[in-house]
Amino acid sequence: MTLDAVLSRIDADLPAATDRLLDLLRIPSISTDPAYKADCDRAADWLVADLQSLGATAEKRPTPGHPMVVGHIGEGAPHLLFYGHYDVQPVDPLELWDRDPFDPEIQEGPKGKVIRGRGSSDDKGQLMTFVEACRAWIAENGALPCRITFFFEGEEESGSPSLIPFMKENADELKTDIALICDTGLFGDSTPAIVTMLRGLLGEELTITAASKDLHSGMYGGPAMNPIRVLSRIITGLHDETGRITVPGFYDGVPELSDEMRAQWQGLNFDHAGFLGEVGLSVPAGEQDRTPLEMIWSRPTCEVNGIKGGYTGEGFKTVLPSKASAKISFRLVGQQDPHEIRKNFRAYVESQLPADCKVAWHGHGASPAGQMQIDHPAFEAARQALSDEWPNPAAYVGCGGSIPIAGYFKTILDTDAMLIGFGKDDDQIHSPNEKYDLSSFHRGIRSWARILDALT
Ligand code: BES
Ligand code: ZN
Repeated sequence: MTLDAVLSRIDADLPAATDRLLDLLRIPSISTDPAYKADCDRAADWLVADLQSLGATAEKRPTPGHPMVVGHIGEGAPHLLFYGHYDVQPVDPLELWDRDPFDPEIQEGPKGKVIRGRGSSDDKGQLMTFVEACRAWIAENGALPCRITFFFEGEEESGSPSLIPFMKENADELKTDIALICDTGLFGDSTPAIVTMLRGLLGEELTITAASKDLHSGMYGGPAMNPIRVLSRIITGLHDETGRITVPGFYDGVPELSDEMRAQWQGLNFDHAGFLGEVGLSVPAGEQDRTPLEMIWSRPTCEVNGIKGGYTGEGFKTVLPSKASAKISFRLVGQQDPHEIRKNFRAYVESQLPADCKVAWHGHGASPAGQMQIDHPAFEAARQALSDEWPNPAAYVGCGGSIPIAGYFKTILDTDAMLIGFGKDDDQIHSPNEKYDLSSFHRGIRSWARILDALT
């Protein structure tokens, strides 16, 4: 039978597939830092060459930011699209890595072999799962069973600024029967998961300036306004004592979880204590009346991701700084409108500024939450295929992270998207020592082969 032969081929080719992934992981394609622009370009070139080696017509397409990679291969219905991102997060703090983040290797971990390196799980390892599934399919059968478009982005980790115009300009080429996104995780260690909803994201950077220059804190401390204190007070006021966010209008468009969804999530028996315990915590923070799973999958948040001001180097300096800044992000759900929230947040901060202080803004990504249409027949077919591969049947889950493109497939191209991925909670994505389990990579490739078979 065709599928069995493809699965055996995947097993036999795993060492070669792993070597290819290690090669891609060696390219430091950090999208948010302009110093790595040429490396992002190199990662795109690598992917173009790899897709061409499958027999696809593939091209690097320029954007005002990092290039997109688009490839086409195969014939016949359905027309599937595979999306992944080749860009990665910055590596700092570098000193917390056990080895060079871009010198990846296979290591023996407590739960089996892992691929260690920046981007191994988010998202190069995941992206390569379907490329490798296609490679094995072609090797075994000479051709793919249907028409496939590959669409790889290099700006996902910096909010996908070039995505909307690119999708609009290339709508005819990118419109397909369904888009398959591999950038999410399993539920627990061995339950495959199909994401039904994921959160949106709004990023804001603000700099508060008080005095026109840095001052001596003995000469000026007291009468001169300290912008770090102003910023801290504003940040403290963003949540009330019950954990709710105080920005006016923030909860407009936030739906209550349906009883049906609540019951389904309860049936997953999420280990709340273990989830926090794994990272050294014991008491849930956040909204008081919500469980951690509910908070992550269905509630909006406001978090401070970074804060800067004054002297933070070695030793001590009695400075009264002129400026203080913070990077703040909001995770969004339901119908929350990122642009409306940006406007309300800025007005709120400005209304809190004391005399002599001013604020400068730098807006980052703004993407709404995404809701998937699980009545599309591909969902049931994929659920079955995943259940055949993994020890546990597949679950429908939410996702706390954000993948801006997921919603745009529907709104811009009227194409349904299905999110399936094989990452684990302990993969340390965005953190030092990121890894991807070799078993995630292996079973991930096998999963896509099964899904390809089920959809054709
Ligand atoms: N792959 C992640 C999204 C994700 C996170 C899925 C956690 C499953 C679990 C994605 O690459 C990501 O990190 N996105 C950023 C988007 C942002 C920088 C615009 C995020 O969620 O912070
Ligand atoms: Zn990702």
